[in-house]
Amino acid sequence: ADLFQPERRNSRGFDLTHAPTLTGIEAARAPFAAHEWNAAPILAGPAAPEAPQRVANPARPEDSPGTVAWASDADIETALSHAQIWDAPAEQRAAALNTAADLYEAHFGEIFTLVAREAGKGLPDAVAELREAVDFLRYYAAHIPEGAPADTFTCISPWNFPLAIFTGQIAAALATGNAVLAKPAEQTPLIAHVAVSLMHEAGVPRTALQLLPGAGAVGAALTSDPRVDGVAFTGSTETARLIRAAMAERLAPGAPLIAETGGLNAMIVDSTALPEQAVQAVVESAFQSAGQRCSALRCLYVQEDVADDLLTMLKGAMDALAIGDPWQLSTDVGPVIDAEAQSQIAAHIDRARAEGRLLKELPLPSGGTFVTPALIEVSGIENLEREIFGPVLHVARFKSRDLDKVIDAINTTGYGLTFGLQTRIDDRVQHVTERVHAGNIYVNRNQIGAIVGSQPFGGEGLSGTGPKAGGPNYMPRFCAPDRRHSAT
Ligand code: NAD
Ligand code: ALA
Repeated sequence: ADLFQPERRNSRGFDLTHAPTLTGIEAARAPFAAHEWNAAPILAGPAAPEAPQRVANPARPEDSPGTVAWASDADIETALSHAQIWDAPAEQRAAALNTAADLYEAHFGEIFTLVAREAGKGLPDAVAELREAVDFLRYYAAHIPEGAPADTFTCISPWNFPLAIFTGQIAAALATGNAVLAKPAEQTPLIAHVAVSLMHEAGVPRTALQLLPGAGAVGAALTSDPRVDGVAFTGSTETARLIRAAMAERLAPGAPLIAETGGLNAMIVDSTALPEQAVQAVVESAFQSAGQRCSALRCLYVQEDVADDLLTMLKGAMDALAIGDPWQLSTDVGPVIDAEAQSQIAAHIDRARAEGRLLKELPLPSGGTFVTPALIEVSGIENLEREIFGPVLHVARFKSRDLDKVIDAINTTGYGLTFGLQTRIDDRVQHVTERVHAGNIYVNRNQIGAIVGSQPFGGEGLSGTGPKAGGPNYMPRFCAPDRRHSAT
């Protein structure tokens, strides 16, 4: 049976409240429940990778979804020397990307399984991941700008959107005719291997798309080489700084760096906000995907008059969260990505507990790299030294007369990714949204899950270089500068 919902402007979704759809999804995942994938470099020349190593399932230490062989130095050289711009007509490139989108959808059972077993993300996240990847492929295929490709682009992605962001960067670079060297996050090479295989099956030439799994060192080699004409990077602000420095050192003409990085995202809830709506938006924004979204809410400001009531409701809503294996449909909060992330986040929570600022935590399942959804009291966002990339929400109280000081504090962090506002005062919407520096601002809803084409996504300041992904200004950055108008 066809489980997808009807086509709308974006890709088709699944109705996860419909029992036969869930049964169909279970049946499509079942063949992959114990499947083992083997990822390795996919090059346009012969590969000589490192010895394979096991890939972890963050929810279940006894399960490994497969192995990965990292790209060797020789593989990096092979990829660089075989990369060739994709000089097929734009319509042909678009057709291949649209075919890739269809193939992704046809492989939804395998993709949903990998999103759970390799990245620790549950079914609603897996559906969103597939849809965003498909949307990126189709959107970029439909909006190819005029202009020559930059030539060879390195695309470096994070593990938290192992399919969507990995695919989005590549799709934009390929649509504009570049050769792509794709470096997925070290934690999620298997889904990247499946994605590149499907893009090749769809007609993307191997010389135009090569896969180089590996740790940060592979990314460093692929950004510092002067044969690389541009870099699309999504990940932490710290890594973006390293890449910018490495690119500045190269003996090559300046090349574009498109960097989408971290955030210290805030939401303001004033005393006129609808409490049920605000609490639901807070829970989704802070704890969905175990808080492992760059867009996730990190610091909630609640107006003092309603703070006690709202926090009581919020704690109650947290009690209803099911923490566990994302393979189970009942799970709301899965594990964090690995033991390193787990110990860093747990140390942050332990500090708050020792200081008497931990307002709420939940019991944890054993086994995987789980972290409790936590509520931590702070006096303001200035208390957050850095992005804590997990299910940890900081909460501060504010007085109505201090609203502008709150906005100043949010802007002073230097980050500017997402921002949320809950209010029923129209003038306040205008006042606050005009002043806050953030790429994506959401009013009276959650602040995660931007939709390709409708809500181009990206930040300012420490959160990214722009232009926003999934919007009209993104792809021209993958093109060579137009020299027709330059003075000689
Ligand atoms: P990360 O910076 O540790 O790693 C990202 C990628 O960079 C990985 O593929 C990694 O191997 C590679 N890398 C590491 N060192 C490198 C180097 N020296 N040179 C080149 N490449 C190198 O980030 P992460 O932990 O994978 O992802 C989480 C971060 O990503 C969070 O900060 C989150 O906010 C951010 N993020 C931002 C967006 C956005 O759109 N703004 C989206 C998702 C995630
Ligand atoms: N685009 C992702 C979101 O909006 C990061 O949550």
